[in-house]
Amino acid sequence: MKCRVCGEECAPFMSFGKMPLANGFLTENDIEKEYFYELSPVFCNNCKTFQIESQPEPEAMFHDEYAFFSRTSERMKEHFNKYSSWLKSTYLNQRTDPFIIEIGSNDGIFLENFAKEGIKHLGIEPSGNVAEEARKHGVNTVVEFFTESLSSEIKEKHGEADIICAANVMCHIPDLNEIGKNANILLKANGLLIFEDPYLGSMIEKTSYDQIYDEHVYIFSAIAVSKIFAAHGFELIDTIQLETHGGSMRYVLGRKGKWDINDRLIKTLQKEKELGLDSPKTYDLFRKSCEESKERLRKALQLEKINGRRVVGYGATSKSTTILNYCEIGSELIDYISDTTPIKQGKLTPGMHIPVKAYSEFCNEHPDTAILFAWNHRKEIMEKEKEFTSSGRKWLSPI
Ligand code: SAH
Ligand code: TMP
Ligand code: ZN
Repeated sequence: MKCRVCGEECAPFMSFGKMPLANGFLTENDIEKEYFYELSPVFCNNCKTFQIESQPEPEAMFHDEYAFFSRTSERMKEHFNKYSSWLKSTYLNQRTDPFIIEIGSNDGIFLENFAKEGIKHLGIEPSGNVAEEARKHGVNTVVEFFTESLSSEIKEKHGEADIICAANVMCHIPDLNEIGKNANILLKANGLLIFEDPYLGSMIEKTSYDQIYDEHVYIFSAIAVSKIFAAHGFELIDTIQLETHGGSMRYVLGRKGKWDINDRLIKTLQKEKELGLDSPKTYDLFRKSCEESKERLRKALQLEKINGRRVVGYGATSKSTTILNYCEIGSELIDYISDTTPIKQGKLTPGMHIPVKAYSEFCNEHPDTAILFAWNHRKEIMEKEKEFTSSGRKWLSPI
């Protein structure tokens, strides 16, 4: 394939096989027309980006029945609250009447922290159902993809922005060169582009291959981010390592030459070199680790079955779609998956068709073993499930 960013030829280093949409929870009636594509990660040795070879059309993933509501996690609410305080004290407070834009604002979990204080803001969110929830929380939202024409429209109507933020969405957007252009249209000369996403370094360290699914067309490193946006006159000035989503990184970019470079960025870049994130060899080793991880998980579940223990999944996450389909785990090994999101309940998981049930089922009758698919929310879940844990029941981690 041609690299989406720089156009160089690059080839996949492995395949996870046929995959359904990560958030394509479905009913019995939909099974016949279920959509599949080949999930194969690629490393571009020229611009050093990690991407997937083919991706379903964005409209197939982001629409009025989008299954992911950011507010389902209390810890993410706290995270975005702290993040907004940091942003205000570091970059916004010294500006008069600042204007903040968020790409992929979902149900308003982040922007509500600005809306509450009357700070000028705008969320850009193509999935109508989550955008509607944001409006209920007083967050101004346009239901659209972040395009060049929308950027010009916003500039004309609301003026240039001080900051464009994005969390867990930049990695969803195939055309990053368009984002670079849009940021140039919309940002003031001293404006900043700040985004956070699951981090390639964490994925390589933990073999958390479940970060790889249709919506995540990229998994970023600081090395890649600085190259991608340099082509549009932006300079990476800071990186902040985060615990969210199993290991993420926040990237701060300003116009070239306008800002001091933070020491944290220098350290991040050094560590990435040590980890070999810029070298194809690393991804060969990663492929082997994925294969080992698959073997380990299948054996652990088969052992539970042989021992007559009932296993239930905890959290029907988008990430678990990759695990279940790659490891070929269906309802012969897992009874059902418990999830707190109403629109997933009563449906089947994409591809492997394991039933998703309400959390009350899990509470009413604890299984012998729970496999923690929402492992990135481990702290929050362990707090909540002390009774399950202390009764001698078992947690299995897929990663
Ligand atoms: N920022 C939230 C939501 C992340 S999910 C959080 O961190 O929890 C990604 C969101 O981005 C979804 O709500 C999706 O509808 C939206 N999105 C996807 N592609 C987009 C695009 N091109 N422009 C703007 N939003 C997009
Ligand atoms: P995420 O990994 O994409 O954030 O999705 C987490 C999923 O896990 C989401 O569908 C909600 C579900 N979940 C629970 O069922 N119980 C919980 O306690 C938490 C934190 C999440
Ligand atoms: Zn490239």
